[in-house]
Amino acid sequence: MTPQEMATTHAAAFTQSRPWTAEEFADLLSNRFTHALGNKHCFAVFQVIADSAELLTIATHPDRQKQGLARETMALWQAEATRLGATHAILDVAADNMPALSLYQSCGYARCGFRPAYYLRENAPNMDAIVMERGLP
Ligand SMILES: CC(C)(COP(=O)(O)OP(=O)(O)OC[C@H]1O[C@@H](n2cnc3c(N)ncnc32)[C@H](O)[C@@H]1OP(=O)(O)O)[C@@H](O)C(=O)NCCC(=O)NCCS
Repeated sequence: MTPQEMATTHAAAFTQSRPWTAEEFADLLSNRFTHALGNKHCFAVFQVIADSAELLTIATHPDRQKQGLARETMALWQAEATRLGATHAILDVAADNMPALSLYQSCGYARCGFRPAYYLRENAPNMDAIVMERGLP
């Protein structure tokens, strides 16, 4: 996937927060700890540093949501993180993002932290973040 393809899917999927630009994806992916997998329908960007993995973003294009793509992509990036040496994974999610909270809970993540007013929202109050973690097999 190119940074532009990621930015296009990201902008279509994220309606409440500022989407990441192609330049931001390119910059992220230039970091040796950052990895991406998926396609224009659904993709994930994650970091692996030593034994820790972190999901930076996951997005499914609205045309393809509710078809199991994010669940499949979660399994793929976690398997790749494990292959690269990670033993646990963390992520953060907006407290009002019910689809993502449900996805992460069903993928075995449990709440481990809270960041008040962490996410900036356009024309709305900042939103709290819930931090979640799980062990990787
Ligand atoms: C969250 C998101 C990635 C889910 O993608 P998806 O491909 O539609 O998800 P899946 O079809 O694989 O669904 C897997 C699980 O996620 C949850 N889920 C997905 N969409 C949901 C919805 N609209 N409402 C409630 N739960 C939902 C369910 O638990 C679902 O399992 P089920 O089908 O057995 O009920 C997608 O809605 C999206 O891109 N949202 C915008 C971006 C975002 O919020 N990313 C995550 C924060 S970084």
